[in-house]
Amino acid sequence: MPIITCIEDLRRIYERRVPRMFYDYCESGSWTEQTFRENSSDFDLIRLRQRVAVNMEGRSSASQMVGQDVAMPVALAPVGSTGMQHADGEIKAARAAEKFGVPYTLSSMSICSIEDVAAATSRPFWFQLYVMRDEDFIARLIQRAKDAQCSALVLTLDLQILGQRHKDLKNGLSVPPKLTPGTIVNLATKWRWGFEMLQTQRRQFGNIVGHAKDVTSINDLSLWAHNQFDPRLDWEKVRKIREQWDGPLILKGILDAEDAKMAADIGADAIVVSNHGGRQLDGALSSIRALPSILEAVGDRVEVHIDGGIRKGQDVLKALAMGAKGTYVGRAYIYGLGAMGEKGVTTALELLHRELDMTMALCGRRNVANLDREILLVPKGFDGEWE
Ligand code: GLV
Repeated sequence: MPIITCIEDLRRIYERRVPRMFYDYCESGSWTEQTFRENSSDFDLIRLRQRVAVNMEGRSSASQMVGQDVAMPVALAPVGSTGMQHADGEIKAARAAEKFGVPYTLSSMSICSIEDVAAATSRPFWFQLYVMRDEDFIARLIQRAKDAQCSALVLTLDLQILGQRHKDLKNGLSVPPKLTPGTIVNLATKWRWGFEMLQTQRRQFGNIVGHAKDVTSINDLSLWAHNQFDPRLDWEKVRKIREQWDGPLILKGILDAEDAKMAADIGADAIVVSNHGGRQLDGALSSIRALPSILEAVGDRVEVHIDGGIRKGQDVLKALAMGAKGTYVGRAYIYGLGAMGEKGVTTALELLHRELDMTMALCGRRNVANLDREILLVPKGFDGEWE
């Protein structure tokens, strides 16, 4: 067994074990991938202040996100088709999150259904919703999330249309994969993935197939998105969903202070500063650069979370010290899942936790719920002086 010391180690194993089309699906941004890259590289521009001779005993990474206790403020982000990265991937990730004590967010576009994940876990998870044209289907999906006792609804606002990711087009991405000569050659080298996939029946979009009108299979995510995701989504529709959901509502995909104010006005409990992992509008600001102006606009009215580019505990610490109350990782745990199933997700969480805890200590702090910008060295003009 290789010695795994960081998330990058998991990524390398993941790359070897998972079919290319699903690896590429995860590891891409849209168009030139500028925003995808800068989500991570902008974290590296922020430096940490080393402090010494501070008592480091009794550290805590426990906190709260939307009023719920978390072992560390790092939730698992919704990731479409997770069950293609590893057989029953959503169940495996949800179980790892539950044991670790962090929220798991199930994507609308998951392979395992809401009911599958509810049956396999004992603590509530969060559910991510895409707004689709079929309002009855959406109402039923929300009801299914309520029936499953989901403890927060994460409504994604930045995907009325799907951004173009070149690799997915070139690979002919489909769920389950179409057997072309190219995919057969690639799958032949991924025997472990294939063997496990043959043991499960869950190989379709479990929340959709058999639930949405006339949908008995969806092979092509972009075609489905093109036809079904509601391009008319506006703040009025968001307001209606707010009325349909009594629990915590988290609005995901906010990258602009004006939109953050709208989200706060509508009564969101939290927002996620996000550019969808650089998968939608290429050329948009990285999440960490967008964070300061959003905090300034609404930080006292709504809980501000962030995703995008987080691959290290240091990134988590930087986001929290900037003022975010919660963070999400997507790719970082998918690497673990594809590499080693549930154990890999646990490993990813342990790595992030250890890095967060040690970095915090070396910055002279003992409590993640109590961080501030004092521990950071942020380059002048970091959030940009854009005209
Ligand atoms: C869907 O959420 C995607 O980014 O592919």
